[in-house]
Amino acid sequence: MCGIIGYCGPRRAAPILLEGLKRLEYRGYDSAGIALATPGCTTAGEGADSLGVIKARGKIKDLKALVPPDIAGTTGIGHTRWATHGEVTDANAHPHLDGTGDFAIVHNGVIENFHQLRDHLLAQGVEFHSETDSEVIVHLLARAYQGDLVAALTATVSLLKGTYGIVAMYRGEPGRLVGARNGSPLVLGIGQGEMFLASDTTAILGHTRQVIYLEDGEVVSLTADEYATSDLMNREIRKEVDHISWELESIEKTGFTHFMEKEIYEQPEAIRRALRGRLDREYATGHLGGLNLNSRELLEVGRIVLLAAGTSYHAGMVATYALEELVRVPAVAELASELRYRNPLVERDALYFAASQSGETADTLYAMREVQRKGGRVLGICNVVGSTIARESDGGVYIHSGPEISVASTKAFTSQLAAFYVFALLMGRMRHLSHDQGLRLIEALEAVPGQIEAILAHTEPIRALARRYASCEHFFFLGRGINYPVALEAALKLKEVSYIHAEGYSAAEIKHGPLALITEETPSVFLVPRDGLREKVITSMKEVKARRGPVIALAVEGDQEVARVADEVLYVPEAHHLMYPFLLAVPAQLFAYYCALERGCNVDQPRNLAKSVTVE
Ligand code: G6P
Repeated sequence: MCGIIGYCGPRRAAPILLEGLKRLEYRGYDSAGIALATPGCTTAGEGADSLGVIKARGKIKDLKALVPPDIAGTTGIGHTRWATHGEVTDANAHPHLDGTGDFAIVHNGVIENFHQLRDHLLAQGVEFHSETDSEVIVHLLARAYQGDLVAALTATVSLLKGTYGIVAMYRGEPGRLVGARNGSPLVLGIGQGEMFLASDTTAILGHTRQVIYLEDGEVVSLTADEYATSDLMNREIRKEVDHISWELESIEKTGFTHFMEKEIYEQPEAIRRALRGRLDREYATGHLGGLNLNSRELLEVGRIVLLAAGTSYHAGMVATYALEELVRVPAVAELASELRYRNPLVERDALYFAASQSGETADTLYAMREVQRKGGRVLGICNVVGSTIARESDGGVYIHSGPEISVASTKAFTSQLAAFYVFALLMGRMRHLSHDQGLRLIEALEAVPGQIEAILAHTEPIRALARRYASCEHFFFLGRGINYPVALEAALKLKEVSYIHAEGYSAAEIKHGPLALITEETPSVFLVPRDGLREKVITSMKEVKARRGPVIALAVEGDQEVARVADEVLYVPEAHHLMYPFLLAVPAQLFAYYCALERGCNVDQPRNLAKSVTVE
């Protein structure tokens, strides 16, 4: 939710900032801007000595068109916005300047007490140029400055309530940037004679692999050659340098038209990575190194609660079915945003998981902290290494999907499932699953990547289906049991990328209301694998057919009965019944993708959405 980047070093900053912003664009794309410690571009300040700011509503390509290719300045900051306070306008775009034009800031987060701060500043004669909450920061910074930029930023942030990742610069110290974080990520990149500050590592991966993740309550100061980190009491903090192992090509499209398509196709490999080293055939169990729980503690777990948002929530819902079946302990998935404000009961024997691709989703993070405050133990299931949830959780599992850039999550969903299943196997084998049952599960899990490859090798029928149905304005996705959450996820995918109204339902529930909406123009996509609920789903298909609703089925190869009832059938390979969520999710993702293409939508950057939602 908003991406920020800063650079100081010997090179021209503008191209580095623009390239970094392009990589951060998934975090927001309402407007973008840069500020450079150089004169010569449109300034909102007082003439040629001010900081140069170029900003505009629209995407990074629109900003790029405004930036002179040879613009000077070797220190700068940049921002790509996902609007919270204030509409999408040029004036509300970051960076924001103080009245003199000497100070500039970019901000990611929400300043909750900005009304009070703004009123206070207005009373002192400060003029505001935007409707954003962020602008108060730069005015406070300018007023706090007494020769030391770090001290000024520290004094400023101590007045702020809310969340922030901030990078600031001052014309009087042109080779220096300062940053601070509370609740919104900020990572320092250490290059050869140059430094970076960004919302996440993808923005700087092309330049350095040495990074330092800032924690909440930390402030950083950087010049081309040096950096220093301190706390809000101005005490120096020594930080560990981490090494990023992701390859640059993992954040490029490498021949695919869209990141979403690439990431769908990466799923077999991503699942293999999520499983690698974690399946133990000798003992027919799972092995997860980072749980920080010994066998006895695991044995004492009497309830499992999965906290998440969006697609991760759907993965968590699927996992609850697998956990209850394999571990025989109650398992529930909770919307993190709801749990947090419910004053949740944290039971002694409950084990919590916070599942988040980005590891930065505010709703999930705050719910996790709420549970931890009440003494609960929370494990993270994250993709982004070093992300806030990964660091603050009491242990956890990385899914190792590689960067997921497309706003609509795909590979993280199936890789989270893989991680949850390994945990279910481990816990199940500690309880009542036999060696044989464990082995069967390992074999079933290991077969999944190949089965997905088989689906990905024949996508033409899915594409053809999308061509026939993409003009429909309403869809139902219907499943039962463990595939009910997959129906929710399939509907979410279609909504997100093609803007088609889609509802996911339990196939059993349509007779309790949604059937009233069935018309000849409202297709229903049924998930009908060969499992214990297949007959029931076929009955629901017939109910829709009887009301002349078009019926599309995702069924198992060779299922003639389903083919007889449905108008259209897409097939997935036969599999272990718990593995169908993986196999049904993939054609659903592709269907959404192809519908979006048919409708000319911006697949990777759907309107109004952002990938990493770091505000509540
Ligand atoms: C945003 C994204 C979704 C994602 C959700 C949770 O809404 O657009 O694709 O599923 O956040 O993200 P997380 O990173 O916590 O999995």
